[in-house]
Amino acid sequence: MSIKILAFAGSLRKDSLNKKLLANASAYARAQGFEVEVFDLGEIPVYNQDIEDTGLPQSVIRFKTAIQGADLLMISAPEYNHGISGVLKNAIDWATRPDGDNPFSGKVGILMGASDGRFGTARGQIDVRKLLVAVDLLTIPQPYVYVAEGDKQFDAEGNLINEKNKASLEKLIARGIAVAEKLKN
Ligand SMILES: Cc1cc2nc3c(=O)[nH]c(=O)nc-3n(C[C@H](O)[C@H](O)[C@H](O)COP(=O)(O)O)c2cc1C
Repeated sequence: MSIKILAFAGSLRKDSLNKKLLANASAYARAQGFEVEVFDLGEIPVYNQDIEDTGLPQSVIRFKTAIQGADLLMISAPEYNHGISGVLKNAIDWATRPDGDNPFSGKVGILMGASDGRFGTARGQIDVRKLLVAVDLLTIPQPYVYVAEGDKQFDAEGNLINEKNKASLEKLIARGIAVAEKLKN
């Protein structure tokens, strides 16, 4: 049985480097014959337990359902002040509510990131990985996909230019798919 992939980026920006990186990852996985859904985190409100107590927002229910229906999660994470972006942390926190209903548990994930700095989200990804341990997502450790100086790494159509970045991304996706397929079948 073929696996399903859900992709989301921790940036809402129209010209987001992380959305571009995720689009490259999605195109590669689709070219291998896999179904990829890209989820925009823009509609997810800022977490507030008072809102949760009155019922989960529709956007959160949609996000949780999309995670539940996927076998592999592809996450592209910007680095904000050497850590995780609020958008990404907030969405992942919401998805683990209510307590005990965590759709990430036992799924497979891959993590990538692009920044305009020299370290390409290497520091931020350490922070993201801590959170992914907390939500019990089996995250493939390597290869690292750290797209540094991201403003120079995509062509006008948004395609990755650098062959090393492309090769790392493709290897990471292939590993994620292989593990997700093993777990599913
Ligand atoms: C609040 C904030 C903090 C940032 N901190 C870092 C940082 O620690 N390291 C880094 O490489 N870039 C940092 N940046 C720059 C981001 O790499 C850059 O804005 C990047 O384009 C964000 O990802 P996006 O294009 O997907 O929105 C920061 C940007 C913002 C808005």
